[in-house]
Amino acid sequence: MNVNALRPQRFKLYIETYGCQMNVNDSEVVVAILAREGFSVTQDMQQADLILINTCSVRENAEQRIRGRLDVFRIEKKQRPGLLVGVIGCMAERLKEQLLEEEKAVDLVAGPDAYRDLPQLVRNAGTGQKAVNVLLSREETYADISPVRMDKNGVSSFVSIMRGCNNRCAYCIVPYTRGVERSRSHETILQEVTALVEAGYKEVTLLGQNVDSYRRDSADETISFARLLEDVAAVSPALRVRFATSHPKDMTDEVLHVMATCHNICKSIHLPAQSGSTRILELMRRRYTREWYLSRIEAIRRILPSCAISTDLIAGFCTETEDDHRESLSLMQQALFDYAFMFKYSVRPNTPAARKMKDDVPEEVKSRRLQEIIDLQGLLSAQSKQRFIGHTVEVLAENISKKSPDQLSGRSSQNMVVVFPKKHYAPGDYVQVHIIECTPATLLGEAL
Ligand code: SAH
Ligand code: SF4
Ligand code: F3S
Repeated sequence: MNVNALRPQRFKLYIETYGCQMNVNDSEVVVAILAREGFSVTQDMQQADLILINTCSVRENAEQRIRGRLDVFRIEKKQRPGLLVGVIGCMAERLKEQLLEEEKAVDLVAGPDAYRDLPQLVRNAGTGQKAVNVLLSREETYADISPVRMDKNGVSSFVSIMRGCNNRCAYCIVPYTRGVERSRSHETILQEVTALVEAGYKEVTLLGQNVDSYRRDSADETISFARLLEDVAAVSPALRVRFATSHPKDMTDEVLHVMATCHNICKSIHLPAQSGSTRILELMRRRYTREWYLSRIEAIRRILPSCAISTDLIAGFCTETEDDHRESLSLMQQALFDYAFMFKYSVRPNTPAARKMKDDVPEEVKSRRLQEIIDLQGLLSAQSKQRFIGHTVEVLAENISKKSPDQLSGRSSQNMVVVFPKKHYAPGDYVQVHIIECTPATLLGEAL
């Protein structure tokens, strides 16, 4: 590929994204940066001049999946020698130059704070030079870049409000791959949300590893997450607002009161517990106890009675006993989570847990505990859905259902997927749906 003379629309970029919502939004930033250099996105890998894979390191199996994709790209490169392949995101940050050495397919490596350098890295890689930038930044928030939206529906969109994380939970690689926490300016967030509303979007999800620690000082005031949320909700009454992720140690009642006051902030909170055992939480360095976690659940139920609560749980962290595990199960029963993301503990190199603790829960014990957690959550999720049967919920229609062109699918304020006959409605409409029945993953109803 001759990258010395980049001109508008001359090159095709194929990009695959793995990992969290933050990565989805970062890929949109990357597309915006490369669009200025003449790249347009293709969905067809075989048309691409440049393949980028935006990667996740959070668990070992996430990385294995990416290695598998790199094998596929290597075969593609054999057929088309000019093709360039770049690894970006968290795995790029974690493995750095090592990726160039280990993976024959890889021509360039860029960490999450180095995306402005991608045009230069592509040029270098195109002339056979080394192309690695994994510098982390204390300031970079890509605040001035308008992400090129890659969602297909034009209804809902992500907006990053901060980057990095300062928490250093013992098991977690994120602080090392994403760097220190920094909040994006309040004005640029509001500008981006306003532009999305003008472009017809109906829902934004504000993203950060720990949104509750959002903080921006201006000349005369400090903007907290509660204030930011209120300001984003005020951009338009027709816009729905979601956010993730909340941290149990930092989530304030003030945020809950803002949610109660603003009708267009969705009643759904993702509050990762990780474990129900105070002893394990301490070893994980989560900086809250089981009792504190349950008191936050109680605050949500009191201030926001209709709010859905979801969580993340890890089975088999270092030293976890059967008693600790039963405490996770009993926490689930007390909190009555509406849904959960559930994982087996996976050692991540150079994290505090990897350095100081032994991964001593046998694989088969981890698997069995995870299965018990999944089974219990299956029951809780079913109960949570059954509560809606016979009730009417407001749904933002997002897509034509994958299973039938006559059905629309969307989500309720509580983030439940709802499917209903399309009639005259279209994606982007708010629809009152009477819920008739449910499947394990979905509420089914009739538009009123
Ligand atoms: N910032 C968010 C989540 C980041 S990672 C928070 O603080 O909750 C998403 C989830 O992956 C975590 O909540 C955790 O449950 C899981 N996770 C992170 N590291 C893990 C590891 N080493 N093994 C298994 N699960 C892990
Ligand atoms: Fe990882 Fe903890 Fe930060 Fe979440 S808060 S990203 S789990 S270190
Ligand atoms: Fe994965 Fe990085 Fe997100 S490790 S979960 S892509 S912050």
